[in-house]
Amino acid sequence: MQVGIDQIGFYTPNKYVDMVDLAHARNEDPNKFLIGIGQNKMSVADQTQDAVSMGINATLRYLDQIARERVGLLIVGTESSVDQSKSASLFIKSALALPANVRTFEVKEACFGMTAGIMIARDYVRLHPHHSAIVIGSDIARYGVNTGGEVTQGAGSISMLIKADPQILAINNGHSSHSEDINDFWRPNDSAVAVVDGKYSKNVYLDFFKQTFTAYRKQTGIKTSDFTALLYHLPFVKMGFKANEWAITAQDEKTKKHLTENFTAAARYGKEVGNIYTASLYLSLLSLLENAKLPANAKIGLFSYGSGAMGEFYSGQIVKGYEKNLHTNADQKMIARRQKLTIPEYEKIFNQALESPQDNLELQSDEQTGTWYFAGTKNRIRQYFQK
Ligand code: COA
Repeated sequence: MQVGIDQIGFYTPNKYVDMVDLAHARNEDPNKFLIGIGQNKMSVADQTQDAVSMGINATLRYLDQIARERVGLLIVGTESSVDQSKSASLFIKSALALPANVRTFEVKEACFGMTAGIMIARDYVRLHPHHSAIVIGSDIARYGVNTGGEVTQGAGSISMLIKADPQILAINNGHSSHSEDINDFWRPNDSAVAVVDGKYSKNVYLDFFKQTFTAYRKQTGIKTSDFTALLYHLPFVKMGFKANEWAITAQDEKTKKHLTENFTAAARYGKEVGNIYTASLYLSLLSLLENAKLPANAKIGLFSYGSGAMGEFYSGQIVKGYEKNLHTNADQKMIARRQKLTIPEYEKIFNQALESPQDNLELQSDEQTGTWYFAGTKNRIRQYFQK
């Protein structure tokens, strides 16, 4: 029995910052951000979008196409938690009207959280083949206004249905993982923004990729040239580009060409949306699926990395007819619909979103009809409404 990704939903908030504007405001050469970092734009979440509302909105993209009563597991991977105790997944379960017997919880290991959820979901479905699992990655990357990491921010969510006989990507057996207790990036409990040693994090990321990719090939006998595409956690496009350059360096021209072309297709959405932490690798997958033509059974490698640090490499096979299960036009419209912010507007919205709103003050959303949003707290209980 094959188990894997049957549905993918995507959401990103309705505002963005253009990297050329940001570069001018920060007295940087725009090419540093566009070429050196590899980013064009970044989505900005205002006070009314958080990990919960974005996760609901991403899942709603496919919810009416699945058997809701068969969902036995709902996992949310996030590093933008809305509560220290209650799981983001409970708010989401309620908004999606999932069955009461669903097992649901939140997982955390920086950007690795969604991959952890997918692996748990895969094993769950293997044991319960008539049930499915929803796994969500939902995050707002916040480094702070006028910081070195500012250019690598973003906001959004990817939601996936994991089930038997999947219609998009069958996950292969086997994986290689590597973990080390290090301090490249973290967010202390008293901080709304991340602490990062950017240069160190770039080196560790590359080191973890080399280790897991080498171990995976050794373990499985799969060669680099067997992959149609290699996908990476993309905190910013240049980071994955460097890993891909390392992967293809000793390959023949044909392999170099297709792995480079498919890297470009996979990076297209990330370039526009920015860093969405747990969901960044899966935004790359969505971008590849919707911007490249992939033959049935094409082998796709996935490298997941979470600072702190945890790395994992695994692979999947493209399922014949996968394109029928995508929402390509809607996803591209989702990105195109965003309104551009001036830098002062972005700074105001960004700083406002760092503060908890006053209790019992109802927030209004400027999102499209049907979109869920965070409406503030009532007697300190978080309220989520649909516009
Ligand atoms: N044109 C083209 N490229 C340019 C340029 C220009 N005018 N000016 C600089 N660059 C290039 C640099 O050569 C460098 O390329 P390289 O990485 O290939 O060496 C790149 O732009 C970045 O320049 P750098 O001086 O390193 O930028 P920085 O000191 O501002 O730091 C980050 C960049 C990414 C380290 C910083 O944004 C950060 O800390 N981000 C968060 C870290 C993160 O996300 N880590 C991953 C966690 S998984």
